[in-house]
Amino acid sequence: MRRIFVVAFLVVLVAVLVFLGLNALGLLPEQAAAQAEPIDWLLNLELMVISFLFALIIVPLVYSLVAFRRKPGETGDGEHVEGNTRLEIGWTVIPLIIVLIFAYLGAENLGRVRRADPQAMQVQVTGYQWGWQFKYPQYGIRSQELYLPVNEQVLFKMESTDVIHSFWVPEFRVKQDLVPGRVTEVRITPSRVGRYTLMCSELCGTQHAYMNAPVVVVSRAEFDAWVAERQAAAAAAAASGPDAARGEEKYLMYCKACHSIDGSKGVGPTWRGLLGEQVVLTDGTTFIADEAYILRSIKEPASQVVAGYPPMAFNAEAVGLTDADLADIVEFIKTLK
Ligand code: CUA
Repeated sequence: MRRIFVVAFLVVLVAVLVFLGLNALGLLPEQAAAQAEPIDWLLNLELMVISFLFALIIVPLVYSLVAFRRKPGETGDGEHVEGNTRLEIGWTVIPLIIVLIFAYLGAENLGRVRRADPQAMQVQVTGYQWGWQFKYPQYGIRSQELYLPVNEQVLFKMESTDVIHSFWVPEFRVKQDLVPGRVTEVRITPSRVGRYTLMCSELCGTQHAYMNAPVVVVSRAEFDAWVAERQAAAAAAAASGPDAARGEEKYLMYCKACHSIDGSKGVGPTWRGLLGEQVVLTDGTTFIADEAYILRSIKEPASQVVAGYPPMAFNAEAVGLTDADLADIVEFIKTLK
């Protein structure tokens, strides 16, 4: 009986120490969304149970090794024990109850995390190899940075133009895949002003590790100011006509991974000296590259594939490039002599 008390005490002690140790590791980044609270609460509870189960297994094991080790001169077999119905029922029913409790808590938690606010602002997210594009349909703007007003729920509607990507800001906790051919959703209510990083958490190709985007959570007033600034910039761009500098920005964002501007061969042909150059297509057609050819190549990549290269996997419309953007890109190509 004394042994049972010693073991029980040690189990509780080790459980508490393991739990405190796990907490001290700082496994989670700071909480920056309302959805993070129920998730962290449940994880904390799970860590408590995990710490207890760990102690429940390790403590009796180590205690037995020490207390019941063979003494010098002891040569006989140990006491033979076969079956213990009460113990077996206990270790079946108790874990079953724990699992059922967690199933209930998990479902309840999921309900809280997904609670929808009908006022939620919508942001359309497009993931592509390899980057992110955000559209704010309510304001008619788009951005490579994810600006969000604090303490307001945002409904993200997400699409992928190519393979599966995954939308994840660790400080917000929730995570959602982007699946080609359908629209997936996630709701997030940022609760803390600050800068975070959106990262793709689904292996999606060679540049997967760099598929990040800045996330900026600001006050409503700052958000409105940012929207006004973006709207003004878009209006100014539309008014000024094609611009090579803006074209270069787009090149760096969308095209650089495959097309060089120094003449070297990439996944696709180099852009250096492209205008006016002779082009040979896979079907043997030969002609001189002009603006119309370049625009058609971007908009309908499959319609004219250059010999020696794979068809381009890029959907300009899906990543939010407008005709004005494409005109900027052509303007930039003109400068690459
Ligand atoms: Cu997109 Cu990994």
